[in-house]
Amino acid sequence: MKIVNEPFGVTAQGQPVERYTLTDGNCSASVLTLGGILQSWTVPDRNGAPTDIVLGFDSVGAYEAQDCYIGALLGRCANRIADGRITVGQQTYTLACNDNGINHLHGGMVGFDRRIWKATVLPDGLQLQYESPDGEEGYPGRLSVTAIYRLTQDTLSIEFFAQSDKDTVCNLSSHSYFNLGGHASGSVGSQMIQVDADRYTPLASNNAPTGEVASVEGTPFDLRQPVRFDAGWDSDFTQIALAGGYDHNYIPAGDGLRPFAQASCPQTGITLTVTSDMPGVQLYTGNFLRDDLPEGKQHAKYDRRHGFCLETQFWPNAFACPDFPQPIVHAGETYHHITNYRYSVCP
Ligand code: GLA
Repeated sequence: MKIVNEPFGVTAQGQPVERYTLTDGNCSASVLTLGGILQSWTVPDRNGAPTDIVLGFDSVGAYEAQDCYIGALLGRCANRIADGRITVGQQTYTLACNDNGINHLHGGMVGFDRRIWKATVLPDGLQLQYESPDGEEGYPGRLSVTAIYRLTQDTLSIEFFAQSDKDTVCNLSSHSYFNLGGHASGSVGSQMIQVDADRYTPLASNNAPTGEVASVEGTPFDLRQPVRFDAGWDSDFTQIALAGGYDHNYIPAGDGLRPFAQASCPQTGITLTVTSDMPGVQLYTGNFLRDDLPEGKQHAKYDRRHGFCLETQFWPNAFACPDFPQPIVHAGETYHHITNYRYSVCP
C-alpha cells in the first residue's frame, strides 16, 4: 500500500485540510484531515472500469455547506440521544439538541465530523488522531481518539481506539454514503441489500429507538435474503413511513467480528461486504439527502436516496433504554472497535 498527501483546501476558519490517498493495486481511497472524511474509494467494476463508490465533494467549502455528514467519522456519540440526556455514573448531563431541537445527533453542534484530525502515515495505514477536550459538546472527560484507515486491494478498514481521563460516552462510527453504481449514478433503488440480522430497534416519533427490540420476520426489515432497496423503502409499514425509508439500527446476531451486511449493484457487479465487532448497524437510505446539496465530485448532482449508509455503532438512544449496551468508556480503559468494508465483483 502506498500513501501520498496533498493540500485539499482551507476551512472557513483558516485551518488547512490535507487529503491522503491510499493506493493498493488498482484500488485507491482518499481521506481528509477534515472530519476523517472518506472522500473517495475507487475500485474496478466487473469490466475493470475505475468506479468511485462513495459520495463526496471536491472542496472544503462544499463539505462545510452541508449537514448530511457525508463520508465523515462520527463522535463522540453516533446517532440520536433523545432530549440530549446522558447519564455517566451518577451524573446526568444535557447535550445540545441539534436534531430538530429534540435529539442530540452525531456528537452535537460541532461533532468529530467537523474537526481537523492529525494525520500520521503508518507502515500499513493512515492514522488520524483527535483530542476532544473535557466538556467539548457537553461531554465529560478529555477523550483521545485514534482512527486508522487501511486499504488492501479488496478491503478498506477503519479501526478506532479511544481513551479518556474520566468515564465518558464513546460510540464512534463512519458515515460514508455508498453508491455501488458509482457516486454519480443516481438512486440506489435498484441495488441489492442484505442485512445479517434477525432483530432491529423500532423508533418512536422522535426517530430515536423506543427501547423495544423487534423481530424483522414478516416486515420490510427482513433483509436476511438480498432484496432491492426500493422493494421496501416506500412501504407503508409504520416504521418505514415514520423514517421516510430505512433509518434503523439492526442487531447482527452474536458478538465479536462477524458479518453485518452485503450490498451489490447489478449493473457494475460491485459488491460491498461489511463485517464489524460493534453491537449494531444503522441502515440509512439517504432519505434526508436533498437536491440542494452542494455540487458533488466531478460536477455530480446528488439527491434523495443517491447513497446508502451502513453505520456500525452502539444501538442509538441507549441512555433512555437501560437494556441496551451502554456506550461508556471508563477512565483508563481503551475503547477499541473495527469495521471492514470488503469489495468484490460478481460476474
Ligand atoms: C443518520 C441518522 C439519519 C440522519 C443521518 C444524517 O444516518 O440515522 O436519520 O440524521 O444520519 O443526515
